[in-house]
Amino acid sequence: MSLMHWLLIALALVVVAALGVLLAVTWIESRQARELEGKKPYTPATANASRTAVVYFSRSGNTALAARHVAQRLDAQLFSLEAPDYQLGLGGLAHALKDANALKEKPGALPDITPRTIDLTPFDTVWLGSPVWLYSPAPPIWAFVEHNRFDGRHVVLFNTFNSHFGDDRIAALQAKVMARGARSFEHRHVLRGRMMRQLTPDEMLRAIDDEWFSPQANP
Ligand SMILES: Cc1cc2nc3c(=O)[nH]c(=O)nc-3n(C[C@H](O)[C@H](O)[C@H](O)COP(=O)(O)O)c2cc1C
Repeated sequence: MSLMHWLLIALALVVVAALGVLLAVTWIESRQARELEGKKPYTPATANASRTAVVYFSRSGNTALAARHVAQRLDAQLFSLEAPDYQLGLGGLAHALKDANALKEKPGALPDITPRTIDLTPFDTVWLGSPVWLYSPAPPIWAFVEHNRFDGRHVVLFNTFNSHFGDDRIAALQAKVMARGARSFEHRHVLRGRMMRQLTPDEMLRAIDDEWFSPQANP
């Protein structure tokens, strides 16, 4: 066989391996989303009088679980953001990677989200939850910040992630939140670990309790 044939075979093997990884990722994501859906149901805040809102985007259910947990602990009102471009499956994953990458170069390249705006006037504190995509909070939470104002509010960004996020991306989102009127900003995050050796959902919730809500975390 010629060198060209060997190169073509090697290329085909790389493509098949990459597709295999993507298929494995989407299979794990779909399984996680199914398992997490019914876990820790949220009971709406008492008499809708809460002064805290929890607004989140989640693709495979982990940030959603964290958001329900936070909302229940704080007796907060819970709002989910939907972003149809990023549904579970290979197409949604490809979109997510493409848009997360584009956002780094073009801060205006934002996806459609539902709802686009939420009346935040009843709230003193707004928690904003998102997974990390390509080291940055995912595009839907940037879109939410773009379309809403946080005048005089304390904003807490919270992220679930597998391994790494970029401090520069958190600082950029903080600047955007502050430019949209926030009084103050905090960042909370929970490291789940790389696929195949991740925290279980209960371990993630325990980490959130210890790292975000213990007296030591809030001296
Ligand atoms: C497109 C994409 C990109 C990701 N990039 C990162 C990353 O840069 N760093 C990281 O630690 N995790 C990354 N992850 C993993 C997610 O942040 C992590 O699994 C998160 O908990 C998923 O939250 P969700 O279940 O609420 O969607 C990425 C996941 C996806 C789908």
